[in-house]
Amino acid sequence: MRITGAESAQVELGARFGTARQRTLELCAGLSAEDMMVQSCPEASPAKWHLAHTAWFFESFVLREFLPGYRLFNADFPWLFNSYYEGFSAFPEKRLRAVFARPALDEILRYREHVNEGVERLLEVGAEQEARRRIELGVNHEEQHQELLLTDILHAFYTNPLRPVYASGELDNPRHENPVLGSPKGSVSYQQFEGGLREVGSSGEGFCFDNELPRHRVWLGPFAMARRLVTCGEFAEFMADGGYSRPELWLSAGWNTVKSNGWRAPLYWMNEGGEWNVFTLRGEFPLKELETAPVSHVSFYEADAYARWAGQRLPTEFEWETAAEGQPVEGNLLDSGLLMPSPCKELLQNEHGTECFGDCWVWTASAYLGYPGFRPLKGALGEYNGKFMSGQMVLRGGSCVTPAAHIRASYRNFFAPETRWQFSGIRLTSL
Ligand SMILES: [Fe+2]
Repeated sequence: MRITGAESAQVELGARFGTARQRTLELCAGLSAEDMMVQSCPEASPAKWHLAHTAWFFESFVLREFLPGYRLFNADFPWLFNSYYEGFSAFPEKRLRAVFARPALDEILRYREHVNEGVERLLEVGAEQEARRRIELGVNHEEQHQELLLTDILHAFYTNPLRPVYASGELDNPRHENPVLGSPKGSVSYQQFEGGLREVGSSGEGFCFDNELPRHRVWLGPFAMARRLVTCGEFAEFMADGGYSRPELWLSAGWNTVKSNGWRAPLYWMNEGGEWNVFTLRGEFPLKELETAPVSHVSFYEADAYARWAGQRLPTEFEWETAAEGQPVEGNLLDSGLLMPSPCKELLQNEHGTECFGDCWVWTASAYLGYPGFRPLKGALGEYNGKFMSGQMVLRGGSCVTPAAHIRASYRNFFAPETRWQFSGIRLTSL
């Protein structure tokens, strides 16, 4: 039997769907039902809610519209697990997600299976082009929530006085053979870029979100970007130099945030008896062991203040994209299984490539705005990205909990400048 191109694309999409759905469950394998109920900060959601909401997305935007005869799993789920789509239905306040003791976890897991069967059936009978597009969007949505699920669990476990460890077990990592990897000082090199008229945004090849379009031209002056991220050791020097107590280093909103929150270190750094320890998905590490690993869980304000202290600046999102374009998506992403930033290659092996992907998202100096001519998706799905285009900054490059299949040079992540619970770090660009 001959398989047509359309059929093989359908099979490929089915495989990608199955892999993503399975992976979400695998990430929860070590969690108890109680772990999955915790919502320890306003930004986070319980793992159980992530499990349900990602199924909701496929049910709401694929099955109800495109699978003839689809029956809702539960008539309340369409509004209960809606996150923020005003054009779809009313929805509960985000802070209430922690009280969803009902529906029980096993019902959520059956909901996921029900939705899986629906999508598989739709692909079997032959999904029309728009349905396939929506399934692909749903897979990418699920991958975003995989990252959120892990960052939310990290915060939940950090908040728990027992400080549980999400991932235990041996690590195949140089850090453990050679914990002190030499001085992180003065070893960063910069790659020069000529600048000029550059094209940015998705080229239209493969999947992209609406906020990566349209591709357009921007003018860049010449710039030089650090080949690696700022390390924990370097950030500790900023702290030792009074970084958190010198207002001249901070933006006004940043300084107010430092004062009102009493910040004196990145999130998850704990001072115990004068020594810093860092809490990770693999438990606590003495800062000394992470000196050459990228600093993570800093806000945009801290990234900006650090850059000013270092006599440099943060890259714009288009400078970063110019450096990353054409590079293979390689680095410490979720697929490495490390689940925490790893020591910078340049320090370990003295390699001279620019590492663009993985470890930590890079805060850029660019506000999150629509590109010229930006058009959100039609209908309620237009709320996916477009309505957040104010008061947030763009982050680029993916992190140690971003699925490798999910990230690319044109990918734009965005968060409010004071947020720190994502794997967000710093890359310097010379002034
Ligand atoms: Fe979502």
